[in-house]
Amino acid sequence: MNPVTEKKELSIDHLKDISSWVSSVHDLNQLLELILESGTRIMRAKASSLLFLDLKKKKLYFKVATGLKKDEIKQFEIKLGQGIAGYVAETGEPLLIGDVAKDKRWYRTISDKIGFKTRSIVCAPMKVGGEVIGVIEFINKAEGENFQQSDLELLTVFADLAALAIVNARKFQLVERENKDLKQELHFNHEIIGKSQSIRSVVADALQVADSQASTLILGESGTGKELMARLIHQASPRKERHLVTLNCAALPETLLEDELFGHEKGAFTGATGQKIGKFELADESTIFLDEIAEMSQTMQAKLLRVLQDGVFYRVGGNVPISVDIRVMAATNQNIVEEIKNGNFRKDLYYRLNVVEIHMPPLRERKEDIALLTRHFVDLFQAGKGYANLTISREAMDKMMQYDWPGNVRELKNAIERAVVMGNGKEIFPEDLPILYAEMPVKDIPVGMTLQEAVDEFKKRFIVANLKNTGGNQSKAATIMGIQRTYLSRLVSKYGIKKLIGRPD
Ligand SMILES: Nc1ncnc2c1ncn2[C@@H]1O[C@H](COP(=O)(O)OP(=O)(O)OP(=O)(O)O)[C@@H](O)[C@H]1O
Ligand SMILES: [Mg+2]
Repeated sequence: MNPVTEKKELSIDHLKDISSWVSSVHDLNQLLELILESGTRIMRAKASSLLFLDLKKKKLYFKVATGLKKDEIKQFEIKLGQGIAGYVAETGEPLLIGDVAKDKRWYRTISDKIGFKTRSIVCAPMKVGGEVIGVIEFINKAEGENFQQSDLELLTVFADLAALAIVNARKFQLVERENKDLKQELHFNHEIIGKSQSIRSVVADALQVADSQASTLILGESGTGKELMARLIHQASPRKERHLVTLNCAALPETLLEDELFGHEKGAFTGATGQKIGKFELADESTIFLDEIAEMSQTMQAKLLRVLQDGVFYRVGGNVPISVDIRVMAATNQNIVEEIKNGNFRKDLYYRLNVVEIHMPPLRERKEDIALLTRHFVDLFQAGKGYANLTISREAMDKMMQYDWPGNVRELKNAIERAVVMGNGKEIFPEDLPILYAEMPVKDIPVGMTLQEAVDEFKKRFIVANLKNTGGNQSKAATIMGIQRTYLSRLVSKYGIKKLIGRPD
C-alpha cells in the first residue's frame, strides 16, 4: 500500500473515532490525550503537545503532551509571543517550519533542557468564538521527513476538534457545577434578619467590602450566621454571577482536604482513576468560602498560604501550575487570636485572610432581635406545614427572650421548627419549645441544710422551673415530670409556689 493512501484511510477512521469521543468523553484531559495521540499517529510525528493560554498572565501552559519527553515538558511555561507556540498564540495564525534551526522565532531552551532534538514543527491555534484559547503542535516527522503544507491542513482539523472538545467539556463541567451549587443554594435564604444596632452595623460593613476583592474573615460563635454572611457578601459582590464554592475544613482529614482543594491528576495515588478538579479551580472567577478554617492542620495552612501568596497551585500529583482568580472568605467560631498565641494557627495566614474582619454578634448581645427572628422562623416553618396565622403565646415569647441561646440563631431556628411541628398549629406555648431556663434547679443548694431541707429546696425549684416551662400549666408540668396532677397541686400549695408563678390553671 502506498503511504499516501494509508494516511488517508487512517485519518478517516480516526476522525470518526475522534468525533464520537468529542460527544461522549466528558473528562477533558482524557479527551485531549485521545485526540493528541491519534493526531500524532496520523501525522507520523515524534512528539506533540497541546498548550492552554492564560490571557491574564500572558502565558501558555502545557496541558497534554505525547512523545518520549511528555512528562518533562509539562513543567515549562511559555510567554505569549515567545517561541513558535507563543507566536502562533499571539498571531492566531498556523505555522509550518521545516527546519527550526533556520527560524529565529524558535525558542530552543526547552528542547535543550529536556534533551529533545527538535527539527521540524507544525503548530496551529485552537480558537473558540474567534479567540485563541491555546495551541497544538506536532514535532519532527518520522523517517527524517519534514512537515508539508498538507500536514498543516490536517493539524488545523485537530486544532478545531480539540477546541470543540474543550468547549464541550467546559460546558459540561459548568452545568454539573452549577447544578450542584444550585441544589445547595436552594436551601439558603440570604436575608439576614435583625434590627439591632450591632447586626445592622455588621451588615453595613459587609456590604461595603462586598465590592472589593479583599479576603474576608468572618468570626463569631457557633450559629451566629457566619455562613449566611459569607453568602450575603458573595451575592452583593461583582462575582455573584458565579456560584459561591464552599469547603468545610473541619469535615475532612488532611489528605482529603488537600484533594478537595487542589484536585488531583490521574494516577496521583492509588485509586486516582481519573483527574479531579479541586475547589480552587471550581472557584475561578468566583469566591471560595473556607469554613472552620481554624481546624486546618499546620501543613495545610502552609500550603494554603503559599497559594494565596503566589496565586498559583498544582493538582496533587501534577506539575502544571494552575493560576486562578479567586476571592477568599473564611470563617471560624474559635478564638483565632488565642489559636495564634497557642501556636495552632499561623499568624501570616491570619493576616492574609483577615484583610477585612467581620464579627457576628451573639444573640445575647442583641436580645431585641429575638422576637423578630422568632416571628421570621414561625412564618418560615408554618408555611412548610401548611398552617397560616400561627401565633406565639406571650409566655412562649417570654421564655424565648429569657433564654441564653448558647447555640445562637441556629438553636433558635431549631427550637421554633420543633415548636411548629409539635404544637397544635394555632398557637405556640412554652412547653412546645425544647429549651429550659438557664437557671439550673440544683445550683447553690448550700451545705448546712439537712438532706430533707435540701430535697425540699430542690423539689420546689424543680417544680418552679417546670411550671415556668409550661407557662404555669400544672397538668402539662405534671405530665412532663411524671407525677399526678393532684400530687403536684399539693406540692404547689405546700411550697407556696403559686405566688412565684403567678398564673393559676
Ligand atoms: N440573622 C439571621 N437571620 C436569619 N437567619 C439566620 C440569621 N443568622 C443565622 N441564621 C440562620 O441560622 C442558621 C445558622 O447560621 P449559619 O450556618 O450561617 O451560622 P454559623 O455561624 O456558620 O454557624 P457554625 O459556627 O455552627 O457553623 C442558618 O440556618 C441561618 O440561615
Ligand atoms: Mg458555619
